[in-house]
Amino acid sequence: MRDVQDYIGNALSRFNQEIFEFLRIPSISAKSDHDEDTRRTADWLSQSLTEAGLQSEIFETPGHPVVIGEWRDAGADAPTVLVYGHYDVQPPEPLELWTSPPFEPEFRDGRLYARGSADDKGQLYLHVKAAEAHLKGAGALPVNLIILAEGEEEVGSPNLVPFIKAHRERLACDAVVISDTGMFAPGLPSLLFSLRGLAYFEIHVQGPSSDLHSGAYGGPIVNPAMALADILATFHDHQGRIAIDGFYDDVRAWDDETLEGIQRLPFDENEFAEALNVTLSGGEFGYSVLEKLWVRPTCEVNGLLSGYTGEGAKTVLPGKAMAKISFRLVTNQTPQKIGELLQRHVAKVTPEGVTVRVETLHGGRPWRARLEGRLKDAATTALLKAFGAEPVLAGEGGSIPIVGDFERILDAPVLLMGFSHPGANLHAPNEWFPKENIEKGIRALAYLYEELA
Ligand code: BES
Ligand code: MN
Ligand code: MN
Repeated sequence: MRDVQDYIGNALSRFNQEIFEFLRIPSISAKSDHDEDTRRTADWLSQSLTEAGLQSEIFETPGHPVVIGEWRDAGADAPTVLVYGHYDVQPPEPLELWTSPPFEPEFRDGRLYARGSADDKGQLYLHVKAAEAHLKGAGALPVNLIILAEGEEEVGSPNLVPFIKAHRERLACDAVVISDTGMFAPGLPSLLFSLRGLAYFEIHVQGPSSDLHSGAYGGPIVNPAMALADILATFHDHQGRIAIDGFYDDVRAWDDETLEGIQRLPFDENEFAEALNVTLSGGEFGYSVLEKLWVRPTCEVNGLLSGYTGEGAKTVLPGKAMAKISFRLVTNQTPQKIGELLQRHVAKVTPEGVTVRVETLHGGRPWRARLEGRLKDAATTALLKAFGAEPVLAGEGGSIPIVGDFERILDAPVLLMGFSHPGANLHAPNEWFPKENIEKGIRALAYLYEELA
């Protein structure tokens, strides 16, 4: 193990440069004009896996490719670990709000600034280097390892479930390890006990077949923008609860240990509010901020579109209106069932005079950890060795839809340990990753394999 940790120390300055190459390629999965860049990123990753000493293969899908690196020489008695990450990133706009350009990585104030530095290319890179440290530093890994990276996480992983199902035997493993989340606080590593799920829809309201003069026609005709506002206003009651029939039916109660653990975490609601310059009066009455973020579901408007939104005043009665709506789900809610409940609810509350259509965009199930025994102990020791602090158990309000699928299809527990810090600006301008965690993250993952074996 000394050799492995020494290797990391000696190679660190190279790692700190190499990671820039990976981050420089704009692998924006949502934009088809970046398809070639996304492809180049898969190639870069595949080559990097090969150089680390793994066998690498690129699998075509109907969308962006899946990259796999494997090393299976630890023997049949050693555990098999499947690492998952994603090499695609979110679009970087608005560009003018970035201090340094999104695809020109830069170390500044102890941080690595770049799109994808935290979500998730930077963290995926740590896994490749932890494997390299074992293979080049000690000549072998103590576990059998599969590193699987997809290029479509940020667009809802449309091709990954079919891929996992088709390769179920090849991907068989004892544990799935993912670093696509953060630490609860700087210096305080975290293991996740949950992720929220996601159900994403568009609501289209159709009124007159085109926009009309709002003076010549306004009055007798139902305004679709107002009708949409009426519909949206029925989604919550005055206690902040979601007022869709049956919405909470599948919400499973949380155990006291988890709820008490949340209360004990070092978290100051006032500081949190001040940092964002907001008040925290949203959400369901009677829950703490961390509970509202982690263990309770939400319904949000993500975007609204209707009528004239350009400069100045234009008198117009819009022909249609659209809202993008998402729900964050908690176990055991499913996006399918929430979709059915939403359809039924919208049909019931739609005013006369307009027609409404609800379209499903994507979804993913919520997840609660099966975190115990050897896996939890190994992760705890590994994080303690690398960070000098025991990890806390934390939840996460965001979603990684594939996590629940991994557990169901491969029947293996998932370990979520990520290394970004709070406020890392995921999906926003000036995304960053703490520079010190390039080293500590690689060390922790290298220790993890040792502890698991
Ligand atoms: N890595 C994030 C999940 C995440 C979000 C972790 C916030 C920690 C904090 C993941 O890449 C992501 O962005 N998930 C999306 C869903 C996806 C289907 C687009 C999300 O949570 O909105
Ligand atoms: Mn991510
Ligand atoms: Mn993301």
